[in-house]
Amino acid sequence: MKALVLCGGAGTRLRPITHTLAKQLVPIANKPVLFYGLEAIKEAGVDEVGIVVGDTSVEIKQAVGDGSPWGLQVSYIYQEQPLGLAHAVMVSEEFLGDDQFVMYLGDNLIKDGIKGLVDEFRNNKPNSQILLARVKEPQRFGVAELEGGRVKRLVEKPERPASDLALVGVYMFDNNIMDAARAIKPSSRGELEITDAIQWLIDKGFTVDPHVIDGWWKDTGRLDDMLEANRIMLETLEPRVEGHVDGESETSGMVVVEKGAEIINSSVRGPAIIGEGTRIINSFIGPYTSIYFGVTVTDSEIEHSIILENSTVTDIPGRVEDSLIGQNVEVGRSPLKPAAYRFMLGDNSRVGIL
Ligand code: TTP
Repeated sequence: MKALVLCGGAGTRLRPITHTLAKQLVPIANKPVLFYGLEAIKEAGVDEVGIVVGDTSVEIKQAVGDGSPWGLQVSYIYQEQPLGLAHAVMVSEEFLGDDQFVMYLGDNLIKDGIKGLVDEFRNNKPNSQILLARVKEPQRFGVAELEGGRVKRLVEKPERPASDLALVGVYMFDNNIMDAARAIKPSSRGELEITDAIQWLIDKGFTVDPHVIDGWWKDTGRLDDMLEANRIMLETLEPRVEGHVDGESETSGMVVVEKGAEIINSSVRGPAIIGEGTRIINSFIGPYTSIYFGVTVTDSEIEHSIILENSTVTDIPGRVEDSLIGQNVEVGRSPLKPAAYRFMLGDNSRVGIL
């Protein structure tokens, strides 16, 4: 069995962060989302991985390399344009050959992994098996209707959902999916939809089984989801201090202080993680905050937020909350006269001021 991990796509919903960073590499609890997926694939006993890449191929290759840190053999498949999940399957034909495979969306996080799904598919050998979870607002998702223990129908974002079973971003296939992907036409948004390809399998009499999970999962394509994923994953960490916490500082709850990080005259209330070489000076870091490497926070308060590498936050009078701050960002007071807000913000940035 092989794995196909999808890391192409445009990431429009996370701009401006995704102007410069692949959304699959945004860190959740200081670890890129994609790495959780690679770990889950390894844990399920699959070693041969093809990663579908697009515009951000250089960064993804740099972050994952040949996959050896995970004990995986990783190769890369270039998808020139993000023309849909079924299109991504089509461009991977040479890599997949006649093998069965698990398809994993690189920006999805499934807390309990995918071993249960992969084992069940291996044992029962349907033509396809899809991961499903019960959700409160099925109209926001691809929804599956079941009959006699099998999947009967898939509908994208239905107005009147026939069930509360939403498609989670992991699918199992045998090579019949290739014929399905070739047979379907682009949807109204111009993409070859994987739901249409699976529906084609069902209509042609192939077996498509459901695998319903109870555990937590998230598509991290939007800011709120990313902050929630960060919150949940921080709660799974064990506290550890590998950096320096000075005598004037205090940490409480689950706090990770990574190598070379310094906490000076500050308070860190967990769950929180402070990345390598990051400095927290005269500040308060509140629960559910992940600060990546090389960041400096001075005279400020931050809570329920993610801050990416090499940024600085200095002397902010109000508490920073529910925020995602990108790489190399400077947030600080403007000392120049006349007193004014002074911004240099990328396209599609969002700023909330008091
Ligand atoms: P989506 O989140 O559905 O699409 P997107 O990445 O284009 O994001 P947005 O809607 O914000 O513009 O994609 C799910 C995953 O699949 C994601 O990791 C990107 C990947 N993908 C591909 O690899 N190829 C594709 O053609 C598409 C549409 C997505």
